[in-house]
Amino acid sequence: MSEYANVIPSLFLDFMQMQTFAQAPTVFVAGDGTSLHAADGRSFMDGLSGVFTASLGQGNRAVIDAITRQLERLAFAPPLHGTNPAALELTAALLRVAPAGVAAVKLLSGGSEATEAAMKLARQYQVQAGQPRRYKIIGRYGGYHGATMGALSAGGGRERKSIYEPLGVGFLHVHPPLCYRCPFDQSYPGCGRTCVELIGRTIEAEDPDTVAAVIVEPISISSAGFVVPPPDYLPRLRAICDRLGVVLIFDEIITGFGRLGTMFASEYYGAAPDITCVGKGMSGGYAPLAAILIRDRIARAFYGEDADNVQFHHGHTYGGNPVAAAAGVAVLGELLSRDLVGNARRRGAQLRARLEEMAVRHSMIGDVRGAGLLQGVEFVRDRATRQRFPAAIRPGKVVERAARERGLLLRCGNDFAAFAPPLVVTEDEIDRMVTLLDESIAAAARELAAD
Ligand SMILES: Cc1ncc(COP(=O)(O)O)c(C=O)c1O
Repeated sequence: MSEYANVIPSLFLDFMQMQTFAQAPTVFVAGDGTSLHAADGRSFMDGLSGVFTASLGQGNRAVIDAITRQLERLAFAPPLHGTNPAALELTAALLRVAPAGVAAVKLLSGGSEATEAAMKLARQYQVQAGQPRRYKIIGRYGGYHGATMGALSAGGGRERKSIYEPLGVGFLHVHPPLCYRCPFDQSYPGCGRTCVELIGRTIEAEDPDTVAAVIVEPISISSAGFVVPPPDYLPRLRAICDRLGVVLIFDEIITGFGRLGTMFASEYYGAAPDITCVGKGMSGGYAPLAAILIRDRIARAFYGEDADNVQFHHGHTYGGNPVAAAAGVAVLGELLSRDLVGNARRRGAQLRARLEEMAVRHSMIGDVRGAGLLQGVEFVRDRATRQRFPAAIRPGKVVERAARERGLLLRCGNDFAAFAPPLVVTEDEIDRMVTLLDESIAAAARELAAD
């Protein structure tokens, strides 16, 4: 690694204190299947699909061949002058699997681009639907929709946004549906669903004629914790948005493309949004690729004569890039032909059962929750009272470090650990990953007890 030692301090990595990173840098040099290998000889099981992205694992032959063929034919197509067959094939493939009623697609190259585009589309739609005063966007505290200014404004994680404030005008936030720690001190299912009813009341209090859209992640993994809504949350939110004329945006950048054991979370929860944001697993990490999927009612408002000026005034240089699109077509082909969405369901059930069994043995696991291959545990000091560890202890980070030392990559917040392994994961790999987590939690518990 000494060959990189001089340059590492000159790099800005994502959300990383580079001085600390430079003391013990991880440089990934190769990957195969669900494993990643670093320059210093360490290997890791990828319990997180990179970052909810590498759904097919590394080295997928079908995707590599599709990208290579496309590179040899056409690497870049000028987006201001036309499109290309790969982008059209991807659009057709997306329309075949998209949530009910989707009639149009805008291809992009990253998740933040997708959420930004969705919010702009919602605002422009309201103008074109005769509601030009509707500009406000409601997101949730703790939510994460990307790192760009608009996405950050809609997101609600103060750790990542306060330093950049003031952000966009017209962004409001409500509390997320975290039943294990209900922000309203109620308990499901006996509660009045205050978490979702409050969205309706917020829109009414603001004046519905001023609200353009609500944006939510169906399942959210963020500074708010690992937020899995109760089953009727999204259907109720759908009904509220319909009643009040508000566009509903699902940020499915993590949950889309099979993660929950259904192609999209909207299918899992039985509630279709007006705009779906997708990215990450859409290309399996083989190319930067994202999109928004647009329902017919919205899409129609953008189809008109030049003189109507109803086109979507939005674009990016790499939107519809042929190489990225070819990756997307091949990834969808793999998901469907190998029934990887079914595998996510089956392996997800196995993962859930193993985590629940583990929770019996580790008193610091207070809750196990998730859907499909997105499962996690929440850490507590006292399971009976759900009391957290003191904020400075950050048990999730202790577990994360212990897991890394044992060769397992996870997504840990201060108080939780989440698994999102590649959708190609095998039964044996799930067992090995959970065993590593089991050992890591035991080591973390010993460390915390010694403190
Ligand atoms: C739910 C969600 N939305 C949006 C984004 C932003 O995507 P990107 O990092 O590709 O811009 C992320 C990234 O982690 C995400 O998890």
